[in-house]
Amino acid sequence: MSKPLKQIHLAAHFPGVNNTTVWSDPAAGSHIEFSSFAHFARTAERAKFDFLFLAEGLRLREQGGKIYDLDVVGRPDTFTVLAALAAVTDRLGLTGTINSTFNEPYEVARQFASLDHLSGGRSAWNVVTSWDAFTGENFRRGGFLPQEERYSRAKEFLATAHELFDSWHGDEILADQATGTFLRDARAGAFVHKGQHFDIQGRFNVPRSPQGRPVIFQAGDSDEGREFAAADADAIFSRYATLKEGQAFYTDVKSRLAKYGRRPEELLILPAATFVLGDTDEEAAELAREVRRQQVSGATAIKHLEFVWNRDLSAYDPEGPLPDVDPVVAEEHISRGRAQVRMYRDPVAIAREWRELAEANKWSIRDLVINTGNRQTFIGSPATVARTINEFVQADASDGFILVPHITPGGLDPFADQVVPLLQEQGVFRADYEGTTLRDHLGLAHPDAARRTGAPAERAAS
Ligand SMILES: Cc1cc2nc3c(=O)[nH]c(=O)nc-3n(C[C@H](O)[C@H](O)[C@H](O)COP(=O)(O)O)c2cc1C
Repeated sequence: MSKPLKQIHLAAHFPGVNNTTVWSDPAAGSHIEFSSFAHFARTAERAKFDFLFLAEGLRLREQGGKIYDLDVVGRPDTFTVLAALAAVTDRLGLTGTINSTFNEPYEVARQFASLDHLSGGRSAWNVVTSWDAFTGENFRRGGFLPQEERYSRAKEFLATAHELFDSWHGDEILADQATGTFLRDARAGAFVHKGQHFDIQGRFNVPRSPQGRPVIFQAGDSDEGREFAAADADAIFSRYATLKEGQAFYTDVKSRLAKYGRRPEELLILPAATFVLGDTDEEAAELAREVRRQQVSGATAIKHLEFVWNRDLSAYDPEGPLPDVDPVVAEEHISRGRAQVRMYRDPVAIAREWRELAEANKWSIRDLVINTGNRQTFIGSPATVARTINEFVQADASDGFILVPHITPGGLDPFADQVVPLLQEQGVFRADYEGTTLRDHLGLAHPDAARRTGAPAERAAS
Protein backbone atom coordinates (compact mmCIF):
# COMPACT_ATOMS: atom_id res chain seq x y z
CA MET A 1 0.00 0.00 0.00
CA SER A 2 1.44 3.39 -0.92
CA LYS A 3 1.85 6.05 1.73
CA PRO A 4 -1.03 8.58 1.84
CA LEU A 5 -0.02 12.01 0.55
CA LYS A 6 1.03 14.47 3.22
CA GLN A 7 -0.97 17.68 3.45
CA ILE A 8 1.19 20.76 2.91
CA HIS A 9 1.30 23.56 5.46
CA LEU A 10 1.83 27.07 4.12
CA ALA A 11 2.51 30.30 5.92
CA ALA A 12 3.34 33.87 5.00
CA HIS A 13 6.30 35.69 6.50
CA PHE A 14 5.90 39.47 6.59
CA PRO A 15 9.57 40.19 6.06
CA GLY A 16 10.46 42.99 8.49
CA VAL A 17 13.99 44.35 7.97
CA ASN A 18 15.67 42.08 5.46
CA ASN A 19 17.71 41.60 2.31
CA THR A 20 14.83 40.05 0.43
CA THR A 21 12.67 43.04 -0.43
CA VAL A 22 13.29 44.64 -3.80
CA TRP A 23 12.89 48.24 -2.77
CA SER A 24 13.49 49.61 -6.24
CA ASP A 25 10.25 48.00 -7.43
CA PRO A 26 7.46 50.61 -7.48
CA ALA A 27 5.15 48.00 -5.92
CA ALA A 28 7.31 47.80 -2.75
CA GLY A 29 5.19 49.30 0.04
CA SER A 30 5.57 50.39 3.63
CA HIS A 31 6.72 47.86 6.23
CA ILE A 32 5.13 49.79 9.05
CA GLU A 33 1.73 51.01 7.86
CA PHE A 34 -1.15 48.82 8.92
CA SER A 35 -2.53 48.68 5.39
CA SER A 36 0.54 46.63 4.36
CA PHE A 37 0.05 44.11 7.16
CA ALA A 38 -3.67 43.92 6.48
CA HIS A 39 -3.21 43.34 2.75
CA PHE A 40 -0.62 40.63 3.39
CA ALA A 41 -2.74 38.87 6.02
CA ARG A 42 -5.90 39.00 3.93
CA THR A 43 -4.07 37.48 0.97
CA ALA A 44 -2.73 34.68 3.18
CA GLU A 45 -6.20 34.01 4.53
CA ARG A 46 -7.80 34.14 1.09
CA ALA A 47 -5.27 31.47 0.08
CA LYS A 48 -6.21 29.39 3.20
CA PHE A 49 -2.69 29.58 4.58
CA ASP A 50 -2.06 28.17 8.05
CA PHE A 51 -0.60 31.34 9.53
CA LEU A 52 1.16 34.67 9.19
CA PHE A 53 4.65 34.87 10.67
CA LEU A 54 6.61 37.76 12.18
CA ALA A 55 10.29 37.52 13.07
CA GLU A 56 11.79 39.71 15.76
CA GLY A 57 14.65 42.21 15.77
CA LEU A 58 15.03 44.48 18.73
CA ARG A 59 17.74 46.92 17.76
CA LEU A 60 18.85 48.71 14.59
CA ARG A 61 21.77 46.64 13.32
CA GLU A 62 25.13 48.23 12.54
CA GLN A 63 28.21 47.51 10.51
CA GLY A 64 31.43 49.48 10.70
CA GLY A 65 29.64 51.93 12.98
CA LYS A 66 26.84 52.67 10.48
CA ILE A 67 23.20 51.61 10.60
CA TYR A 68 21.94 49.25 7.91
CA ASP A 69 19.75 51.28 5.61
CA LEU A 70 17.31 48.36 5.42
CA ASP A 71 16.63 48.66 9.14
CA VAL A 72 15.29 52.18 8.97
CA VAL A 73 12.08 50.87 7.39
CA GLY A 74 11.13 50.07 10.99
CA ARG A 75 9.77 47.05 12.76
CA PRO A 76 6.68 47.64 14.88
CA ASP A 77 5.92 45.64 18.01
CA THR A 78 4.74 42.09 17.36
CA PHE A 79 1.79 41.90 19.75
CA THR A 80 0.38 45.21 18.59
CA VAL A 81 0.52 44.11 14.96
CA LEU A 82 -0.88 40.62 15.58
CA ALA A 83 -3.73 41.92 17.75
CA ALA A 84 -4.69 44.38 15.02
CA LEU A 85 -4.55 41.59 12.43
CA ALA A 86 -6.76 39.39 14.58
CA ALA A 87 -9.48 41.96 14.03
CA VAL A 88 -9.28 41.89 10.23
CA THR A 89 -8.91 38.12 9.79
CA ASP A 90 -10.98 35.20 10.87
CA ARG A 91 -9.10 31.94 10.51
CA LEU A 92 -5.47 32.78 9.80
CA GLY A 93 -3.00 31.76 12.53
CA LEU A 94 -0.89 34.57 14.01
CA THR A 95 2.69 33.64 14.88
CA GLY A 96 4.95 36.04 16.72
CA THR A 97 8.64 35.64 17.47
CA ILE A 98 9.31 36.63 21.07
CA ASN A 99 12.64 35.99 22.74
CA SER A 100 13.08 34.33 26.10
CA THR A 101 16.25 36.23 27.00
CA PHE A 102 15.05 39.77 27.62
CA ASN A 103 11.45 39.16 28.74
CA GLU A 104 9.59 37.74 31.75
CA PRO A 105 7.32 34.67 31.60
CA TYR A 106 4.31 36.29 33.29
CA GLU A 107 4.24 39.14 30.82
CA VAL A 108 4.75 37.01 27.71
CA ALA A 109 2.28 34.30 28.81
CA ARG A 110 -0.31 37.01 29.44
CA GLN A 111 0.26 38.53 26.01
CA PHE A 112 -0.06 35.22 24.16
CA ALA A 113 -3.06 34.05 26.19
CA SER A 114 -4.71 37.41 25.46
CA LEU A 115 -3.94 37.12 21.74
CA ASP A 116 -5.35 33.60 21.78
CA HIS A 117 -8.61 34.89 23.28
CA LEU A 118 -8.91 37.90 21.00
CA SER A 119 -8.24 35.81 17.89
CA GLY A 120 -10.44 32.86 18.85
CA GLY A 121 -7.53 30.42 19.21
CA ARG A 122 -5.08 31.49 16.53
CA SER A 123 -1.93 32.48 18.42
CA ALA A 124 1.53 30.94 18.14
CA TRP A 125 4.79 31.83 19.84
CA ASN A 126 8.14 31.37 18.12
CA VAL A 127 10.44 31.06 21.14
CA VAL A 128 13.92 32.36 20.27
CA THR A 129 16.91 32.99 22.48
CA SER A 130 18.01 35.96 20.33
CA TRP A 131 21.41 37.12 19.19
CA ASP A 132 23.79 39.16 21.25
CA ALA A 133 24.99 41.53 23.94
CA PHE A 134 24.46 44.47 21.61
CA THR A 135 20.70 43.83 21.61
CA GLY A 136 20.85 43.15 25.35
CA GLU A 137 21.99 46.72 25.98
CA ASN A 138 18.48 47.83 25.08
CA PHE A 139 17.14 45.91 28.04
CA ARG A 140 19.71 45.65 30.80
CA ARG A 141 22.43 47.91 32.11
CA GLY A 142 25.42 46.69 30.12
CA GLY A 143 24.20 43.17 30.62
CA PHE A 144 22.96 40.17 28.74
CA LEU A 145 22.84 36.47 29.22
CA PRO A 146 25.88 34.45 28.08
CA GLN A 147 25.15 32.27 25.07
CA GLU A 148 25.55 29.05 27.06
CA GLU A 149 22.83 30.04 29.54
CA ARG A 150 20.26 31.09 27.00
CA TYR A 151 18.69 27.70 26.35
CA SER A 152 18.58 26.90 30.04
CA ARG A 153 16.61 30.12 30.53
CA ALA A 154 14.49 29.42 27.42
CA LYS A 155 13.52 25.97 28.69
CA GLU A 156 12.56 27.27 32.10
CA PHE A 157 10.84 30.30 30.56
CA LEU A 158 8.63 28.09 28.43
CA ALA A 159 7.91 25.64 31.26
CA THR A 160 6.91 28.57 33.48
CA ALA A 161 4.69 30.03 30.77
CA HIS A 162 2.99 26.64 30.45
CA GLU A 163 2.39 26.60 34.19
CA LEU A 164 0.70 29.97 33.81
CA PHE A 165 -1.42 28.88 30.82
CA ASP A 166 -2.42 25.78 32.80
CA SER A 167 -3.11 27.67 36.04
CA TRP A 168 -6.75 27.85 35.09
CA HIS A 169 -7.59 24.22 35.43
CA GLY A 170 -9.82 23.87 32.42
CA ASP A 171 -13.49 23.24 32.05
CA GLU A 172 -14.51 23.13 35.72
CA ILE A 173 -13.03 26.54 36.33
CA LEU A 174 -14.60 28.02 33.22
CA ALA A 175 -17.97 26.71 34.36
CA ASP A 176 -17.45 28.28 37.77
CA GLN A 177 -16.47 31.50 36.14
CA ALA A 178 -19.68 31.49 34.12
CA THR A 179 -21.83 31.31 37.24
CA GLY A 180 -19.29 33.66 38.76
CA THR A 181 -20.17 35.65 41.76
CA PHE A 182 -17.44 35.21 44.29
CA LEU A 183 -14.23 33.18 44.48
CA ARG A 184 -15.79 29.91 43.48
CA ASP A 185 -12.53 28.08 43.24
CA ALA A 186 -9.46 29.09 45.14
CA ARG A 187 -7.21 27.42 42.57
CA ALA A 188 -8.05 29.80 39.70
CA GLY A 189 -4.87 31.20 38.24
CA ALA A 190 -2.71 30.20 41.22
CA PHE A 191 0.91 29.43 40.41
CA VAL A 192 4.21 28.95 42.21
CA HIS A 193 7.44 28.60 40.29
CA LYS A 194 10.80 28.34 41.96
CA GLY A 195 13.69 27.61 39.65
CA GLN A 196 17.16 28.66 38.62
CA HIS A 197 15.99 31.59 36.47
CA PHE A 198 12.56 32.46 37.85
CA ASP A 199 11.24 32.61 41.36
CA ILE A 200 7.66 33.78 41.06
CA GLN A 201 4.25 33.08 42.51
CA GLY A 202 0.85 34.64 42.34
CA ARG A 203 -2.25 34.44 40.20
CA PHE A 204 -2.44 34.54 36.46
CA ASN A 205 -5.30 36.76 35.38
CA VAL A 206 -6.10 35.47 31.89
CA PRO A 207 -8.45 32.47 31.88
CA ARG A 208 -7.69 29.37 29.84
CA SER A 209 -7.62 30.45 26.19
CA PRO A 210 -9.27 28.62 23.27
CA GLN A 211 -6.12 26.68 22.32
CA GLY A 212 -5.21 26.00 25.96
CA ARG A 213 -1.67 26.98 25.11
CA PRO A 214 -0.47 28.87 22.04
CA VAL A 215 1.23 26.76 19.40
CA ILE A 216 4.98 26.74 20.17
CA PHE A 217 7.61 27.33 17.47
CA GLN A 218 11.37 27.20 17.83
CA ALA A 219 14.08 28.59 15.52
CA GLY A 220 17.64 28.08 16.88
CA ASP A 221 19.79 25.64 14.93
CA SER A 222 22.42 24.36 17.36
CA ASP A 223 22.28 20.93 18.95
CA GLU A 224 20.81 22.53 22.06
CA GLY A 225 18.26 24.40 19.99
CA ARG A 226 17.19 21.21 18.22
CA GLU A 227 16.85 19.35 21.52
CA PHE A 228 14.75 22.19 22.89
CA ALA A 229 12.45 21.89 19.87
CA ALA A 230 12.29 18.09 20.09
CA ALA A 231 11.27 18.29 23.74
CA ASP A 232 8.91 21.25 23.77
CA ALA A 233 7.96 22.72 20.39
CA ASP A 234 5.08 22.03 18.00
CA ALA A 235 6.95 23.39 14.96
CA ILE A 236 10.39 24.57 13.85
CA PHE A 237 11.09 27.62 11.70
CA SER A 238 14.23 26.45 9.89
CA ARG A 239 16.56 27.83 7.27
CA TYR A 240 16.94 24.56 5.31
CA ALA A 241 14.70 24.89 2.29
CA THR A 242 16.68 22.93 -0.31
CA LEU A 243 15.85 19.27 -0.89
CA LYS A 244 19.05 17.72 0.47
CA GLU A 245 19.60 20.10 3.41
CA GLY A 246 15.91 19.96 4.23
CA GLN A 247 15.89 16.16 4.31
CA ALA A 248 19.00 16.05 6.51
CA PHE A 249 17.51 18.52 8.98
CA TYR A 250 14.11 16.81 8.94
CA THR A 251 15.60 13.38 9.66
CA ASP A 252 17.85 14.76 12.38
CA VAL A 253 15.13 16.60 14.27
CA LYS A 254 12.36 14.04 13.87
CA SER A 255 14.70 11.31 15.14
CA ARG A 256 15.17 13.25 18.39
CA LEU A 257 11.47 13.05 19.29
CA ALA A 258 11.21 9.45 20.47
CA LYS A 259 13.31 10.00 23.56
CA TYR A 260 10.77 12.61 24.69
CA GLY A 261 7.93 10.14 24.12
CA ARG A 262 6.72 12.04 21.09
CA ARG A 263 5.66 10.95 17.61
CA PRO A 264 7.19 12.47 14.41
CA GLU A 265 3.95 14.24 13.45
CA GLU A 266 3.93 16.16 16.73
CA LEU A 267 6.71 18.46 15.49
CA LEU A 268 6.32 20.18 12.11
CA ILE A 269 9.34 21.37 10.13
CA LEU A 270 8.64 24.59 8.26
CA PRO A 271 11.59 26.26 6.51
CA ALA A 272 11.56 29.84 5.24
CA ALA A 273 11.37 29.87 1.45
CA THR A 274 11.24 32.39 -1.38
CA PHE A 275 9.77 32.06 -4.86
CA VAL A 276 9.75 33.68 -8.27
CA LEU A 277 6.90 32.96 -10.68
CA GLY A 278 6.78 33.48 -14.45
CA ASP A 279 4.46 32.40 -17.26
CA THR A 280 7.10 29.88 -18.25
CA ASP A 281 10.10 28.36 -16.43
CA GLU A 282 12.45 30.36 -18.66
CA GLU A 283 10.68 33.63 -17.91
CA ALA A 284 10.79 32.88 -14.18
CA ALA A 285 14.50 32.07 -14.34
CA GLU A 286 15.18 35.37 -16.10
CA LEU A 287 13.09 37.26 -13.56
CA ALA A 288 14.84 35.46 -10.69
CA ARG A 289 18.21 36.65 -12.00
CA GLU A 290 16.90 40.22 -12.19
CA VAL A 291 15.51 40.01 -8.66
CA ARG A 292 18.83 38.74 -7.32
CA ARG A 293 20.69 41.64 -8.96
CA GLN A 294 18.26 44.08 -7.40
CA GLN A 295 18.57 42.39 -4.00
CA VAL A 296 22.37 42.52 -4.11
CA SER A 297 23.66 45.95 -5.14
CA GLY A 298 27.43 46.54 -5.28
CA ALA A 299 27.30 48.13 -1.83
CA THR A 300 25.28 45.21 -0.41
CA ALA A 301 27.80 42.75 -1.84
CA ILE A 302 30.71 44.54 -0.13
CA LYS A 303 28.79 44.63 3.19
CA HIS A 304 28.09 40.93 2.86
CA LEU A 305 31.76 40.17 2.32
CA GLU A 306 32.80 42.41 5.23
CA PHE A 307 30.56 40.33 7.42
CA VAL A 308 32.72 37.26 6.73
CA TRP A 309 36.05 39.08 6.36
CA ASN A 310 35.38 41.11 9.52
CA ARG A 311 37.24 44.10 8.13
CA ASP A 312 36.60 47.25 6.11
CA LEU A 313 36.47 46.31 2.41
CA SER A 314 35.04 49.59 1.14
CA ALA A 315 38.11 50.15 -1.05
CA TYR A 316 37.29 47.03 -3.11
CA ASP A 317 35.39 47.19 -6.39
CA PRO A 318 32.25 45.02 -6.17
CA GLU A 319 32.63 44.24 -9.87
CA GLY A 320 36.24 43.14 -9.31
CA PRO A 321 37.90 40.05 -7.82
CA LEU A 322 37.64 38.91 -4.20
CA PRO A 323 40.08 40.32 -1.62
CA ASP A 324 43.31 38.33 -1.36
CA VAL A 325 43.71 39.32 2.31
CA ASP A 326 42.32 36.87 4.84
CA PRO A 327 39.42 37.54 7.24
CA VAL A 328 40.22 38.96 10.66
CA VAL A 329 39.44 36.38 13.32
CA ALA A 330 38.65 38.23 16.54
CA GLU A 331 36.11 38.41 19.34
CA GLU A 332 35.10 41.89 18.21
CA HIS A 333 32.97 41.78 15.06
CA ILE A 334 32.51 44.51 12.48
CA SER A 335 28.77 43.86 12.48
CA ARG A 336 26.56 44.33 15.51
CA GLY A 337 23.10 42.89 15.94
CA ARG A 338 23.34 40.61 12.94
CA ALA A 339 23.11 36.87 12.99
CA GLN A 340 26.78 36.00 13.13
CA VAL A 341 26.26 33.35 15.78
CA ARG A 342 27.60 30.07 14.45
CA MET A 343 26.77 31.01 10.87
CA TYR A 344 30.36 31.52 9.81
CA ARG A 345 32.33 29.27 12.11
CA ASP A 346 35.55 29.30 10.13
CA PRO A 347 35.72 32.54 8.12
CA VAL A 348 39.22 31.81 6.79
CA ALA A 349 38.06 28.52 5.28
CA ILE A 350 34.96 30.19 3.85
CA ALA A 351 37.09 32.94 2.29
CA ARG A 352 39.32 30.31 0.68
CA GLU A 353 36.32 28.40 -0.63
CA TRP A 354 34.72 31.55 -2.04
CA ARG A 355 37.95 32.65 -3.76
CA GLU A 356 38.19 29.25 -5.45
CA LEU A 357 34.55 29.37 -6.47
CA ALA A 358 34.86 32.90 -7.85
CA GLU A 359 37.98 32.01 -9.80
CA ALA A 360 36.47 28.87 -11.28
CA ASN A 361 33.34 30.73 -12.38
CA LYS A 362 35.02 34.05 -13.22
CA TRP A 363 32.79 35.78 -10.68
CA SER A 364 33.20 39.27 -9.30
CA ILE A 365 32.47 40.01 -5.64
CA ARG A 366 28.91 40.89 -6.55
CA ASP A 367 28.46 37.78 -8.73
CA LEU A 368 29.68 35.63 -5.86
CA VAL A 369 27.20 37.11 -3.38
CA ILE A 370 24.38 36.88 -5.91
CA ASN A 371 25.14 33.22 -6.57
CA THR A 372 26.00 31.96 -3.09
CA GLY A 373 23.59 34.04 -1.04
CA ASN A 374 19.90 33.45 -0.61
CA ARG A 375 19.03 32.25 -4.07
CA GLN A 376 15.26 31.88 -4.46
CA THR A 377 13.97 28.51 -3.33
CA PHE A 378 11.24 27.95 -5.92
CA ILE A 379 11.59 29.37 -9.42
CA GLY A 380 9.31 28.53 -12.32
CA SER A 381 5.86 28.59 -13.79
CA PRO A 382 3.03 28.11 -11.26
CA ALA A 383 2.82 24.45 -12.34
CA THR A 384 6.55 23.90 -11.75
CA VAL A 385 6.51 25.65 -8.38
CA ALA A 386 3.42 23.75 -7.20
CA ARG A 387 4.93 20.45 -8.31
CA THR A 388 8.30 21.18 -6.68
CA ILE A 389 6.81 22.25 -3.37
CA ASN A 390 4.74 19.11 -3.27
CA GLU A 391 7.74 16.93 -4.17
CA PHE A 392 9.80 18.49 -1.38
CA VAL A 393 7.08 17.90 1.20
CA GLN A 394 6.33 14.33 0.09
CA ALA A 395 10.10 13.61 0.13
CA ASP A 396 10.26 14.76 3.75
CA ALA A 397 12.40 17.83 3.14
CA SER A 398 9.77 19.65 5.21
CA ASP A 399 6.11 19.65 6.24
CA GLY A 400 5.50 22.86 4.32
CA PHE A 401 7.01 26.31 3.90
CA ILE A 402 6.94 29.78 5.38
CA LEU A 403 7.00 31.96 2.28
CA VAL A 404 8.78 35.30 2.11
CA PRO A 405 7.86 37.27 -1.01
CA HIS A 406 10.33 39.81 -2.40
CA ILE A 407 7.61 42.47 -2.67
CA THR A 408 5.62 43.58 0.36
CA PRO A 409 2.68 43.56 0.63
CA GLY A 410 1.57 42.44 -2.86
CA GLY A 411 4.15 39.73 -3.54
CA LEU A 412 2.05 36.98 -2.07
CA ASP A 413 -0.93 37.59 -4.36
CA PRO A 414 0.42 35.79 -7.46
CA PHE A 415 1.22 32.75 -5.31
CA ALA A 416 -2.29 32.79 -3.84
CA ASP A 417 -3.90 33.16 -7.26
CA GLN A 418 -1.73 30.85 -9.35
CA VAL A 419 0.01 28.24 -7.19
CA VAL A 420 -2.45 27.52 -4.40
CA PRO A 421 -5.27 26.38 -6.78
CA LEU A 422 -2.86 23.84 -8.33
CA LEU A 423 -1.92 22.45 -4.91
CA GLN A 424 -5.62 22.23 -4.10
CA GLU A 425 -6.26 20.37 -7.36
CA GLN A 426 -3.54 17.89 -6.42
CA GLY A 427 -5.37 17.31 -3.12
CA VAL A 428 -2.36 18.27 -1.03
CA PHE A 429 -3.59 21.62 0.28
CA ARG A 430 -6.90 22.49 1.92
CA ALA A 431 -9.68 23.95 -0.25
CA ASP A 432 -11.04 25.64 2.86
CA TYR A 433 -10.32 25.82 6.56
CA GLU A 434 -11.76 22.83 8.38
CA GLY A 435 -11.35 24.16 11.89
CA THR A 436 -11.20 27.49 13.61
CA THR A 437 -7.93 27.38 15.56
CA LEU A 438 -4.31 27.26 14.44
CA ARG A 439 -4.00 23.88 16.17
CA ASP A 440 -6.79 22.67 13.89
CA HIS A 441 -4.97 23.92 10.77
CA LEU A 442 -1.67 22.32 11.82
CA GLY A 443 -3.28 19.05 12.93
CA LEU A 444 -2.01 19.47 16.49
CA ALA A 445 -3.96 18.09 19.43
CA HIS A 446 -5.46 20.48 21.97
CA PRO A 447 -3.59 20.14 25.29
CA ASP A 448 -6.88 19.11 26.95
CA ALA A 449 -7.84 16.62 24.21
CA ALA A 450 -6.78 13.51 26.11
CA ARG A 451 -8.64 14.59 29.22
CA ARG A 452 -11.75 15.69 27.35
CA THR A 453 -12.14 12.71 25.06
CA GLY A 454 -10.03 10.04 26.70
CA ALA A 455 -7.74 9.97 23.65
CA PRO A 456 -5.43 12.41 21.90
CA ALA A 457 -8.04 12.92 19.22
CA GLU A 458 -9.07 16.12 17.59
CA ARG A 459 -10.14 19.12 19.56
CA ALA A 460 -13.53 18.91 21.21
CA ALA A 461 -15.89 21.62 19.95
CA SER A 462 -15.91 24.54 22.31
C1 LIG B 1 15.84 30.25 11.04
C2 LIG B 1 16.14 31.09 12.24
C3 LIG B 1 15.37 32.21 12.51
C4 LIG B 1 15.61 33.01 13.62
N1 LIG B 1 14.84 34.11 13.84
C5 LIG B 1 15.12 34.91 14.90
C6 LIG B 1 14.38 36.11 15.10
O1 LIG B 1 13.48 36.44 14.37
N2 LIG B 1 14.72 36.89 16.17
C7 LIG B 1 15.73 36.56 17.01
O2 LIG B 1 15.98 37.31 17.94
N3 LIG B 1 16.44 35.44 16.83
C8 LIG B 1 16.16 34.62 15.80
N4 LIG B 1 16.91 33.48 15.62
C9 LIG B 1 18.06 33.27 16.49
C10 LIG B 1 17.89 32.27 17.56
O3 LIG B 1 17.01 32.77 18.49
C11 LIG B 1 19.21 32.02 18.27
O4 LIG B 1 19.59 33.13 19.02
C12 LIG B 1 20.37 31.76 17.39
O5 LIG B 1 20.00 30.98 16.29
C13 LIG B 1 21.45 31.06 18.22
O6 LIG B 1 20.99 29.84 18.69
P1 LIG B 1 21.47 28.50 18.02
O7 LIG B 1 22.91 28.45 18.31
O8 LIG B 1 20.68 27.41 18.64
O9 LIG B 1 21.19 28.62 16.54
C14 LIG B 1 16.66 32.67 14.50
C15 LIG B 1 17.43 31.54 14.24
C16 LIG B 1 17.20 30.74 13.14
C17 LIG B 1 18.04 29.53 12.91
